[in-house]
Amino acid sequence: MLHMPKNIVILTGAGISAESGLDTFRDQGGLWANHSVDEVATPEAFVKNPKKVQKFYNQRRQELRNVEPNNAHRALATLEERWDGDFTLITQNVDDLHERAGSKNLLHMHGELLKVRCTHSHEIISWQEDLDAKTPSPFHPEGILRPHIVWFGELPLYMDVIFRKLDEADIFVAIGTSGQVYPAGGFVQHVYMKGNCDRIEINLDQSDLSYLFNEHYTGKATEEVPKWVDALLQAK
Ligand code: OAD
Repeated sequence: MLHMPKNIVILTGAGISAESGLDTFRDQGGLWANHSVDEVATPEAFVKNPKKVQKFYNQRRQELRNVEPNNAHRALATLEERWDGDFTLITQNVDDLHERAGSKNLLHMHGELLKVRCTHSHEIISWQEDLDAKTPSPFHPEGILRPHIVWFGELPLYMDVIFRKLDEADIFVAIGTSGQVYPAGGFVQHVYMKGNCDRIEINLDQSDLSYLFNEHYTGKATEEVPKWVDALLQAK
């Protein structure tokens, strides 16, 4: 029987962008240590205090201007280019470092900082500038522009295609994510239950979900991701 190319699904989290200079959420001194989720990352917060919410995301958008993709982002782009099987990169990150590194088949399940959308028509546009509490929407007179970010209590994006890809995955890799936010935290359990899927975790540390993975690369993403990619491409 001919050897069939394998389907890879990769999930990334804030840890892959940490060495580029972006804060993670739950590590010591992370974003959620200095900002309250309830005040900046929920639809209710946006209704109650839109100025505060916009300020938080304006800062995140501005930070993006001063950072660059790192070797971990670049290694995943190289893997995608050289891989014969299906390749899907799912990111919980709202930065654009994967695309700047050259990744193509990329799903931003928690939205994107460099996009905004109309609160009325839900149309989405690319956006680089700051938003204020009531930046008018170009799409509808009653709409204002909000960050194209999935807030707590909202549904993540692309879930139908993501679960289809997970069902077909032969290799699932989680990189730089604590696994504490669902549904992304449930992806490893999903592929574990379906069986026939290698489950690899690449993280600086153990996570709460480490026991569900059968292989671990423990260390910095900029070192461990290229190491894993090289090993995989050599075994091809
Ligand atoms: P977390 O901040 O929860 O977790 C970051 C993970 O990255 C931790 O497990 C760290 O050990 C690991 N890490 C940190 N530095 C690393 C490095 N240099 N190399 C490798 N690993 C490293 O971030 P996420 O899991 O991405 O959602 O958080 C998930 C979601 O929670 C985010 O998308 C965001 C947040 O609330 C929304 O805002 C909707």
